[in-house]
Amino acid sequence: MAAGRKHGPAAISIPIMIEIQAVTQRFGSVEAVRNVDLSIRKGEVFGIIGRSGAGKSTLVRTLNLLNRPTSGRILLDGQDLTALSAQQLREARRGIGMIFQHFNLLSSRTVYDNIALPLELAGKSKAEIAQKVEPLLELVGLSALKDRYPAQISGGQKQRVGIARALANDPKVLLSDEATSALDPETTRSILELLRKINQELGLTIVLITHQMEVIKVICDRVAVMEAGQVIEQGEVLDVFRQPKHEVTRALIGDVIAHELPKGVVERLRARLAKAEAENDATKGTDHLFRFAFTGSGVDQPHLSEAVRRYSLDFNILHGQIDEIQGQAFGSLAILANGTQENINNAMQYLRSQGVVVEELNHVI
Ligand SMILES: Nc1ncnc2c1ncn2[C@@H]1O[C@H](COP(=O)(O)OP(=O)(O)O)[C@@H](O)[C@H]1O
Ligand SMILES: [Mg+2]
Repeated sequence: MAAGRKHGPAAISIPIMIEIQAVTQRFGSVEAVRNVDLSIRKGEVFGIIGRSGAGKSTLVRTLNLLNRPTSGRILLDGQDLTALSAQQLREARRGIGMIFQHFNLLSSRTVYDNIALPLELAGKSKAEIAQKVEPLLELVGLSALKDRYPAQISGGQKQRVGIARALANDPKVLLSDEATSALDPETTRSILELLRKINQELGLTIVLITHQMEVIKVICDRVAVMEAGQVIEQGEVLDVFRQPKHEVTRALIGDVIAHELPKGVVERLRARLAKAEAENDATKGTDHLFRFAFTGSGVDQPHLSEAVRRYSLDFNILHGQIDEIQGQAFGSLAILANGTQENINNAMQYLRSQGVVVEELNHVI
């Protein structure tokens, strides 16, 4: 019998690390965060994405009460942070590491001494500090640079120092606010790989704030989308990519997935449809524009050619790509399908039954 079954399915619960309950944050008349509820699971990398000004930083700062919410509660591993005394809160904050866009290193301290700082503040001895800092230097790949000053290392190396410093007190949670936004794409990738490694090797829960869907795509398990202080959509990253519900989400995904049709394609399509209408030839069938999104096995299996064969359609691939999200293949294709209305309907029904997300795009032309 499977471990979870003896209590019945209803008893299987995923352990929660952070519970954000009805959190609202006002600054004067500005409601930066509005009634947000979110549960972040133990051991996951949870992304929060949104455009600039959406309220991401404000929300993440409520997680360690750098912002005390106007209303609502923050539970960290079951403990209500909003109910703690100042002393208890200082203690609880050690369980939360944080990294920032601009690293926030002390320029007068070496790499080693920057990482050692939180341990010094916690009153550790020199020997205890060395015992902690040396393996952290190793973990982030900076052992050889430990005596350098921040001005003598690159941006990516500075962020590695930031990460090691954030881990010094063995936190339960790492908060990352745009930690890769000041870095070039290659360095971003290496920092995200490091965060993934830390997540997997240490089992650390990571909450990652970003305005870049690429970052979410590479590292996150689940994602919440924020807009105007509210969470407008959330779910498994793959599901959100497959079927974004909100216009803002679609636009953010459009940055990394060929989601919207390029202008030139739309213009050619318009011309083609106008011509077909002028000719009014019923034997030619009608054109329909679709977007197909498919994941996992749908990418490998020839569902598309099968649909074409079964229903005697013409498929013209206009635009698209096959990508990988969280180790799973993900495809997004814009297709012009030509055939009788009945065959088109049947083909789309068939594709949907095979797990392909089918969306009519006729509104774009
Ligand atoms: N300390 C503050 N005082 C007043 N307004 C603030 C403060 N912090 C943030 N805001 C406002 O709250 C909104 C959300 O900001 P922020 O959380 O920084 O967004 P994001 O991180 O998503 O770009 C913005 O309109 C911003 O101007
Ligand atoms: Mg921000």
